[in-house]
Amino acid sequence: MSTPGTTTPDAALRRVIYVSHAVADPAQPMEAVIGSILDAARRNNARTGVTGALLYSQRRFAQVLEGPPAAVERIFETIQCDLRHDHVTVLEVSSPATRAFGDWSMAFAGDIKAAPGDIHPAAPSERVLAILQQAIRNTEAATA
Ligand SMILES: Cc1cc2nc3c(=O)[nH]c(=O)nc-3n(C[C@H](O)[C@H](O)[C@H](O)COP(=O)(O)O)c2cc1C
Repeated sequence: MSTPGTTTPDAALRRVIYVSHAVADPAQPMEAVIGSILDAARRNNARTGVTGALLYSQRRFAQVLEGPPAAVERIFETIQCDLRHDHVTVLEVSSPATRAFGDWSMAFAGDIKAAPGDIHPAAPSERVLAILQQAIRNTEAATA
């Protein structure tokens, strides 16, 4: 718990977790789509102090974005308008004390090889991955 009046480097931290459905594009394999998303994420997120993880499985995305509130909101607004996915459903908006993915501009975990040689071998926190996988199963069950 934080004490009123004290500040830490991560005092104003925002975390957004959402899930969405990938929109298939017959002209582009999913590997290429995810590769270009990760390129943009790694390019833009590092610049604005945003870190996180993207999970792709069975045509579902789940993403955790963490960082300064204004930067996370701005990036999330852009992401919400992206036509490569739809049914964006926010699962969590919180102000955690610390980042779960501070080491990654955008860690990737998925059931396809999206960016050969560019996937961090160190797996993102298993706990958050478990949350995301559960979230994907829940939305699949809800929309089945
Ligand atoms: C599931 C999903 C996750 C994305 N995550 C990010 C992200 O973390 N950071 C980012 O900058 N763009 C992300 N994008 C891409 C943005 O919607 C947008 O295309 C991109 O920010 C544009 O970057 P640019 O102006 O540098 O080309 C994501 C898109 C999708 C579909």
